[in-house]
Amino acid sequence: MATVAQPRTKESVAPDPARNLALELVRATEAAAINCSRYMGFGDKNQVDGAAVDAMRPVLGSVRMNGIVVIGEGEKDEAPMLFNGERVGDGSGPEWDIAVDPVDGTTLTAKSLPDAVSIIGVSARGTMFSPGPAVYMQKLVVPAEAAAAVDLDAPIADNLAKIAEATDRAVSELTVCILDRPRHAELVTAIRSAGARIRFLLDGDVAGAIMAASPLTAGVDLLVGVGGTPEGVLAACALRCLGGEMFGRLIARDEDERAAILDAGFDLDRVLTTTDLVSGDNVFFAATGVTDGALLRGVRFESHRIVTQSLSMRSRSGTIRLIEGRHDPERSFLVNP
Ligand code: FBP
Repeated sequence: MATVAQPRTKESVAPDPARNLALELVRATEAAAINCSRYMGFGDKNQVDGAAVDAMRPVLGSVRMNGIVVIGEGEKDEAPMLFNGERVGDGSGPEWDIAVDPVDGTTLTAKSLPDAVSIIGVSARGTMFSPGPAVYMQKLVVPAEAAAAVDLDAPIADNLAKIAEATDRAVSELTVCILDRPRHAELVTAIRSAGARIRFLLDGDVAGAIMAASPLTAGVDLLVGVGGTPEGVLAACALRCLGGEMFGRLIARDEDERAAILDAGFDLDRVLTTTDLVSGDNVFFAATGVTDGALLRGVRFESHRIVTQSLSMRSRSGTIRLIEGRHDPERSFLVNP
């Protein structure tokens, strides 16, 4: 006989002061998305980025947490706000590592192209990979059921065959997500020769990684190629909440960068897994759509309201929320932080 789940009593639900973080973070990504989307199509990516940071920062300051930016807008001198090492939140409670990209897809927004999102990931202090001088990394993201079958160093045709087998499909039914960059020319040729479809990303491979980890919702089966290391850590935050697996390896663009990465103590041969990138077991992730995309709808300015769509997730509980926000342009703190 099937057992019926019993409702939990008040006493059986453990109090956890951190659990509201998942929802509080959404306010910060909503504020950034709303403010920067005002510059959609204006052609200036720095204006987009500045507007997102300006709006996100005061809202983050109001969040009940003691955060330290590990993945931010860069070093202090280049980025006056949300720089690496900056403290964010109201300072209460235990320390958290913060990964933030106020807009992943500044150019997408400036050119009114799809898939730009505002993102934050949070994990316990000391549990996030800090990439140092490594700007780029090789990435392979697959859904959970294919994780054990793939190998970062295998030819793409072999990985595609393994994923097809693991997900009970033909290679021709798989869709590969990849940044549209000259550096991927050989990889693209190999994917086409193997017979898989390609969904090119003009920018924004965090959204691509999320889509790859959850193919049922986005029609993408894997993400491959070289993208930003900070975006790799942010994607890992999402995957810790969502499931799916990421494999990565730091890449040096030239000999000077290779020397800097090695001097900083990093291993350029090591394959990094999702858990290597974010090792905490209580990870929070929030994202809000800036421009319309396959993952999230972009910001809409309607008569007397602004509508946002966001994703809020937490690894410990496994809760994934899709949140529609309706904001009053006159009264909302997020619209006028
Ligand atoms: P922005 O920082 O301009 O928003 O671009 C983000 C991004 O497309 C990432 O999603 C990606 O990881 C990285 O840039 C790729 O770098 P590049 O554009 O140098 O290939």
